[in-house]
Amino acid sequence: MEHPRNSVLSLALIFTSAICLFQVSDGWGIDGHFIVCKIAQSRLGEAAADAVKQLLPDYVEGDLAELCSWADRVRFRNRWSAPLHFINTPEVCTYTYRRDCESEDGEKGTCVAGAINNYTMQLLDYGSSSKSDYNLTEALLFLSHFMGDIHQPLHVGYADDKGGNTINVRWYRRKAVLHHVWDVEIIETAEKRFYNENIEDLIDAVQKNISGVWASRIKSWESCESSKKACPDKYASEGIKAACQWAYEGVSEGTVLEDEYFLSRLPIVTLRLAQAGVRLAATLDRIFEASVE
Ligand SMILES: *[C@@H]1O[C@H](CO)[C@@H](O)[C@H](O)[C@H]1NC(C)=O
Ligand SMILES: *[C@@H]1O[C@H](CO)[C@@H](O)[C@H](O)[C@H]1NC(C)=O
Ligand SMILES: *[C@@H]1O[C@H](CO)[C@@H](O)[C@H](O)[C@H]1NC(C)=O
Ligand SMILES: [Zn+2]
Repeated sequence: MEHPRNSVLSLALIFTSAICLFQVSDGWGIDGHFIVCKIAQSRLGEAAADAVKQLLPDYVEGDLAELCSWADRVRFRNRWSAPLHFINTPEVCTYTYRRDCESEDGEKGTCVAGAINNYTMQLLDYGSSSKSDYNLTEALLFLSHFMGDIHQPLHVGYADDKGGNTINVRWYRRKAVLHHVWDVEIIETAEKRFYNENIEDLIDAVQKNISGVWASRIKSWESCESSKKACPDKYASEGIKAACQWAYEGVSEGTVLEDEYFLSRLPIVTLRLAQAGVRLAATLDRIFEASVE
């Protein structure tokens, strides 16, 4: 039996560490990831669409978006996966894989860019005659989630402030940390104000722009240099640039963020969600087309 005072103490400990974990651990919120996966799945070619259906568990009835936040749910159970959701730079507005994609104990590839390469490589086993060493359902869910995360500007942020997790601001009248503003608040405020609190309406609006005002840029979003299957480094470089130019810009401890910030940053958020969806689809197409040959 534990001494009652100890159990109160350990409860308090569990509680505070849960809060800390939550603060550092959000991806895009559930809505952001849902949007990315919906856009991606709607664009898949036949081979990738079939593979995704095969790999998803039956209970989601073929809907990838339902499990697009799975990787956030398992990060507490699978502690090893926590550093795979983000990249930290040493307070500079550029990214390099060699410098920034290492764990604290120097292990290479331990960041969201490394994880995208890792799970892309695993999925190339799909359809091969010998059984894969990996769980390809998990590989698909990780890849789909991390393609979202790497497009959230503050998931490629400064190490010092943990991608804006230690910067306290106000979002209109409520307290928030800057990281959470980009994960969740901008999207939710947009849904409330412009889309009748309806995520499907927001997805439709993004899709319209993909086939409308952004149509001429889609090819370059999708393209990957030297016939690689995935090119996360390009997305990470864009991410830290957007973090400096838009997320951190004009914000310090205690800043009150209201319409001026919301309305000028919303187009960046919707652009990044669109790019993530388009690129996830292109990456899955490249992976699964290769694997049926
Ligand atoms: C690669 O995937 C395996 C299986 O999920 C995992 O154990 C490993 O930590 C991953 N590494 C990276 C860098 O993503
Ligand atoms: C693969 O991973 C999923 C999700 O964690 C799990 O439900 C499933 O049982 C795993 N499949 C195998 C063959 O281990
Ligand atoms: C779509 O593009 C128009 C024109 O640039 C812009 O005003 C609107 O906010 C965009 N909507 C979304 C959801 O990207
Ligand atoms: Zn995440």
